[in-house]
Amino acid sequence: MEGMEYFYELFEALPRCGPGDNKSTRRAFNTIPKLPKQPFILDIGCGPGVQTIELAKLSNSKIIALDNHQAFLDKLMKKAKDEGLLDHIVSKNISMLDMDFEENTFDIIWSEGALYFMGFQNGLRRCHQLLKRDAYLAVTEIVYLVPNPPTTVVEYFEKEYPDIKLVKDKIKLIQNEGFHLISNFTLPKSSWLDSYYLPMEEELCRLNKKYQGNEIALGIFEEMKKEINFYKKFSDFYGYEFFIMQRIN
Ligand SMILES: C[S@@+](CC[C@H](N)C(=O)[O-])C[C@H]1O[C@@H](n2cnc3c(N)ncnc32)[C@H](O)[C@@H]1O
Repeated sequence: MEGMEYFYELFEALPRCGPGDNKSTRRAFNTIPKLPKQPFILDIGCGPGVQTIELAKLSNSKIIALDNHQAFLDKLMKKAKDEGLLDHIVSKNISMLDMDFEENTFDIIWSEGALYFMGFQNGLRRCHQLLKRDAYLAVTEIVYLVPNPPTTVVEYFEKEYPDIKLVKDKIKLIQNEGFHLISNFTLPKSSWLDSYYLPMEEELCRLNKKYQGNEIALGIFEEMKKEINFYKKFSDFYGYEFFIMQRIN
């Protein structure tokens, strides 16, 4: 895509790269019933790693934080150093499409707002292979929150993310792929607004001034502003769902 550098300049300035918050990460983690003393965790699409740091604080774990954008990993590892967590987190710059870990390796796979890059179903399959038997997968995925969302919303997602479904349909998929659903909950609107879109609006103000006259940059920022406004108008109809599940066979 033309102008990716402006897109990355925006995202590198944000605290996180998608909706989420530490309270929800903790809530999801605390639904996991039983773990080894030092769980081995893979965080797929970790971005700048807000949830990676939280996971490291929650458990005496070893975490591989995987992303294909080095600047995000650098930001994460700086935070890990500042927080004294370097013994717990290793970063790995590869595509989630090229993961070459041994099968049956991880106690937990975590992925907030990122598994969809593999396709949700394909992502479930790949995680199933990489998890130990009876191990856990926690992911957030965009869903419809009501059975009949307005036509404008349906048309928007046909273009943006045709794989969007109702929570009950995602649960069916999860069960069909060999997982037992432990728990699921919808992220609060504050995890879109306070943690993600409000910081983005502030950065957009700054970057719109910085790149005055640059049609490509301004075009990208305009699209992001449209996405924010769309969410503000239609947030009753779609959201992120946290799914916490266990590999059962
Ligand atoms: C919506 S962000 C979520 C980041 C982080 N989990 C969070 O909640 O802040 C998606 C992340 O997936 C990463 N990503 C996109 N495609 C990827 C791929 N093929 N392999 C690895 N990471 C990828 C992006 O660089 C980005 O950091």
